[in-house]
Parts: sequence; C-alpha cells; structure tokens
Amino acid sequence: MSALPLSLLPDTAVVDVGGRLSIGGCDVLELAAEFGTPLFVYDEEHLRARCREAVAAFGPGVNYATKAFLCRAMARVAFEEGCNLDVSTGGEYHVARAAGVPADRLVLHGNNKSTDELRRALDEGVGRVIVDSFDEIDRIESLVADGSPVPRVLLRITPGVEAHTHEFVRTGQDDSKFGFGLASGAADVAVGRAAASPALDLVGLHVHIGSQVFEARFFEMAIEVLAPFVQRHGLPELSIGGGLGVAYVAGESSDSITDWGDIVRSACAAAGITATVTAEPGRALVARAAVTLYTVGTVKELPGIRTYVSVDGGMSDNPRPVLYGSGYEAFLPRCTDADRDAVVTIVGKHCESGDVLVRDASVPSDLVVGDVLATPVTGAYGYSMASNYNKVPRPAIVFVRDGRARMVVRRETLDDLLALEVD
Ligand code: LLP
Repeated sequence: MSALPLSLLPDTAVVDVGGRLSIGGCDVLELAAEFGTPLFVYDEEHLRARCREAVAAFGPGVNYATKAFLCRAMARVAFEEGCNLDVSTGGEYHVARAAGVPADRLVLHGNNKSTDELRRALDEGVGRVIVDSFDEIDRIESLVADGSPVPRVLLRITPGVEAHTHEFVRTGQDDSKFGFGLASGAADVAVGRAAASPALDLVGLHVHIGSQVFEARFFEMAIEVLAPFVQRHGLPELSIGGGLGVAYVAGESSDSITDWGDIVRSACAAAGITATVTAEPGRALVARAAVTLYTVGTVKELPGIRTYVSVDGGMSDNPRPVLYGSGYEAFLPRCTDADRDAVVTIVGKHCESGDVLVRDASVPSDLVVGDVLATPVTGAYGYSMASNYNKVPRPAIVFVRDGRARMVVRRETLDDLLALEVD
C-alpha cells in the first residue's frame, strides 16, 4: 500500500502539485471528459523514442512486432522512426500497407500462412518471409512457379531453449507449433531444402524464444545453441525475435532496449557470429506508452470478504489478467501520487465472475463512484487482443503529444456491433 511508482507511467507523464496527471501535455481527466471512457491514451513521444532506441540498438533493420499494438497511426510512427514492421497475418499486413508502409519494409510471419497471404506478400515485394514449415516451402515454390517473384526468406528455428515465462507465450522449446526444431534435425533439412530451392532466396535464420522474458541469460542461451548452426550455414542474417520483458507492477524492473541490444551483440560476438543481427520487439516499444482510463460505476463492499470496484470496461479491453493471470497497478489520475491505502478488486462489466482487471489493487480509500480510474502499462496486447464480448463496444484510442490529443481510432458504436450482420 503505497503510491503508484511513477516509473510505470509514459515518458512525458507529469504530476502537478495537486496530484493531477497529464501525458503529452494533456490533462488526463480532460481527455476522459472529451473522449469518454474506457479510453486508451498513448504518449506519442514515448512510442517514437522507443522506436528510435530500437533502431539505435539493432540498426535500421529492426522490426516492430505489430501484434503488440497496431493501427495505421502506430504503423506510421514505427515506420517514420526507421523501423521495419513484423506482421504475423494477412490482416496485420493489410493494416500496415493501408498506413502507407512499403511492402519491402514488412516481414511476414505466421505458422500457417495461407496461399493468398503469401501470394499478396510476394507479388507486392515483401521485405522478408519468415518461413515456418515444409508446407510453406511447398506453397512458396508453387507460387513462384506460377510467376510470383522469389522472396528473401529467413527460416524460423526452434532452439530448444525454455524461457521461464507463461507457457502460453513460450515458444522456443522443442514441443512447439512454431519453426523447425534444431534437436530433431528438421532445421538442417529445412536449410538444405531452402538453400537448394530456386524459389527461395535464403538470407538467414530466425529465433524467438518467448515473450515477457526477464532474464538475459535465455537470449544468451538461444544464441549459444544457434551459433554453430549459423556458422555452419554461413548465412548473412540472424533475427533473435522479440520477447524483452517489461515491468507492469511495483517492484518489477526490466532491461532497457539498449541493454538488450548490448546483451545480444556481445553474446553473438562471444559465439563468433558474424551475421547481421536484428530483432523484433513488440511489448518493449509500446507497453508503457499507454494508460487505460475507466470510469468507476459501482462500489460494492462485502464486509469481511472484499470490496468490488466495477469499471466500464474489463476483459474485453484487457484480457491479459484473465488469460495469463497478469498483474496491473491502478490509480486515480486526480491524485496520482496519493497514498493508496485501500485494497479492492477491480472488475469489469462483463457477465463473468472471472472478469477481473486487478485482483488486489491498492487504491486511495477516498475512491468514489464517478472517479476516473487508470491502469498503466496497457499499451501492448490490450487493444490488439480486445473483443466485443457481451457486445461491449471497443474503446477509442488517442495519441497525445505537445499538448494536443489526436483520436486515431474512434470508439465503436452500437451500430458497429451490427455492421457485419447480413440477415
Ligand atoms: N516475434 C515473434 C515471432 C513473436 O511471436 C512475438 C510475440 C514477437 C516477436 C514480439 O514479442 P514481444 O517483444 O512483444 O514480447 N499476448 C501475449 C504475448 C504474445 C506474444 C506473441 N508473440 C501477452 O499479452 O503477453
């Protein structure tokens, strides 16, 4: 029970003497009044600074993993700051292209790319395809036989390194739906096939060990395991994927993107890897850039049990607590640095008891119905995993910068909920 660690807020967050929070020069409570709640507020300077940091750490080939958060405005920010974009489906590819990002700045991922997804990417001159299976090699070969251009490809390798992270977001272990296993020999076979195929221009290898990885040693282990393989095949590129962990709650701390770049580079040097090394950070670029604003609708005290504080969003705008048991902090932007002397359970408005945003949240005890309540570090895998469960419209997104708020995604309307229905 203490004040919110201000280190969890976006770069440009300022708390005035009265405790009111502004981000990007915009008063947060005024944003809630103007745009309504729930609302995602992104600090555009923070986004841009993290993209620049990634480019400085890994070079201009660094890829922003758009699955963490994607809309046209975000695609433009990453592109303008010098990043390439990692797209993992035809849908992400489409949004990035609609934002004006050239195809050759896109890297196409996916463990089950369809022929249509591959055809569009190849025909538009996609930058790289990260090939994930033998079936995909077959598909590319037949597309090229039909006249599509030969793509530059990296092969996704599963190194057999188990990062200690939630099992749903762990990907480097042998038992994985992703990539070609190193231990099974599939990786060697895949390199042999890709190198021999005139339909693929094999330029490198790719590895991604998982997400929300806090310990640098897992990246070092993956690089060590992969090194002999990279050298044996003498390929010019190596992507070490994404996964850098981010602090969500008090007491957590994480390496910066700059630290991560140093760790990866020295591990590669130690392992004798001379390939150009790149990466695909998602969460580390966008998570802390945003806060979500909600309005408190009901407060229900169950004596001797707990106090439920219900807000106007929930698992539809942030499914991470329900999916992964992820923790968040909560605070009141009217008194951001106040002591949080009460413990409550913050829940959403969905028809499920499991619809919990923060199980044991410290909040100021003068919290009342009508207050704007905020959760920090919601910029990654929040809006991108949002749903319309219970027909709750998805929130709006505003980018704030230099005292100006720009709505980049409007709030869904009730009529939007009917937009796909044809009968
Ligand atoms: N590259 C590949 C191949 C990936 O699969 C991912 C994430 C990334 C890069 C970016 O990882 P990041 O830097 O964001 O950790 N929904 C989960 C996270 C799933 C991550 C999936 N892949 C969550 O909310 O924690």
